[in-house]
Amino acid sequence: MNEDDSYSATEPGPLKNRTVILGVCGGIAAYKACDIASGLRKAGATVHAVMTPHATSFITPLTLQTLTRNEVHVHQFDEGGHWKPEHIELAQKADLILVAPATANTIAKLANGICDELLTTIIMAAQCRVMLAPAMNPHMLDHPATQFNLGVLQHRMRYEIIPPDIGEMACGDYGAGKMASVEGILATVASKLMERSNLTGKSMIITAGGTREPIDPVRFIGNRSSGKMGVAVADAAHARGADVTLISTVHVERSYPVVVVETAQEMQEAVEAEFDTCDALVMTAAVADYRPIVVSTHKIKKTESEDLVLELTKNPDILDLLGRVKRKDQVIVGFAAESEGLLSNAQQKLKRKHLDMIIGNDISVPDIGFGSDYNAVVILTAEGQRENLPRMPKRAIAEHLLDLLAARLENVQKAPV
Ligand code: PMT
Repeated sequence: MNEDDSYSATEPGPLKNRTVILGVCGGIAAYKACDIASGLRKAGATVHAVMTPHATSFITPLTLQTLTRNEVHVHQFDEGGHWKPEHIELAQKADLILVAPATANTIAKLANGICDELLTTIIMAAQCRVMLAPAMNPHMLDHPATQFNLGVLQHRMRYEIIPPDIGEMACGDYGAGKMASVEGILATVASKLMERSNLTGKSMIITAGGTREPIDPVRFIGNRSSGKMGVAVADAAHARGADVTLISTVHVERSYPVVVVETAQEMQEAVEAEFDTCDALVMTAAVADYRPIVVSTHKIKKTESEDLVLELTKNPDILDLLGRVKRKDQVIVGFAAESEGLLSNAQQKLKRKHLDMIIGNDISVPDIGFGSDYNAVVILTAEGQRENLPRMPKRAIAEHLLDLLAARLENVQKAPV
């Protein structure tokens, strides 16, 4: 067996489904980033290395590329032909960013919001946890500017510093500034990533996007859902180890199964095909309540008449149907998009559709809900609990929802059936 293959396909590592961005800065400790990259990958994580240009003076991108089995990113504007800027794409993929070694220079940039190269730009664009393992000469670490910058970052929500060790430096000086041991860094990162592993082995269906009900080959009845809320829930569930199936009207490329559908009936079929074997269903999709009775096979022509009357018929209510037949050990969660009477309408839907939870959002508020990266919601449970979450990124809402869902699944699956 190759040194690098200690976890086989049948024995996935504990960090399976976790994506780590390994930031490497220009310092002699950069060579230890190779062992970190290798350790993370052996533990099952997907690792994307991002090097500062200075780091390439110490180790080559090829070394990290071989160890991570992924392309290594160095320069800010190498977009590689992708339509989405590299820093945004990588930032969205990450469950955690580890910068090891983190130099005084990069720490100063992060403390001051300077993004003049790819690594700092990715960190600014990401919403996940950032762990920094400083490594530098003891006088540089002790310098008031570095101490001030570390203090600034320590007080920021997403940042965590892995303290450097005391020892002899490569330059011959002795003191604090030696990067923490590779084993220590790997253990800290793993425990951070495993904190949220509470959906391992659970099977989840998540729906996303707005259905389209065809009128003719050109036109359809649709809505403004972008699928972002559903994809945020699916990504977060996948990162926690769940076996996710995303049923979506919007095509996204993911490492978990994505079933692309168009109409409410197609969505119903896809959800029902998986429902029996799932532990939880989360319906963020905006499903059309009605569809045209007749779908014209030809493009409908403009006629002399001023009016065109479309006759509509009711679509199946997927949640309503499944809420009636769900087993006691399954959890189903709905979303409610309301432009008025948020609380009372969400409460009614929770009850009528036999849901365990409903997440209500007021779509009349600008810059949340449809199409936005943000949402503000009220969460209602079947037992009458209520919680308001203020405006925050959809991924943060998804994480909170999954905390509640995981606790709920644990209870219902422990209870005698
Ligand atoms: O996709 P984004 O741009 O990120 O926007 C997110 C969102 C605003 C779409 C999302 O947060 C949201 O509110 N989703 C629910 C939208 C909706 O259709 O709500 P509703 O009140 O019409 O339906 C209530 C629930 O029943 C929903 O879970 C819906 O999926 C489900 N439903 C509705 C109709 C139907 N025929 N079958 C259903 O299962």
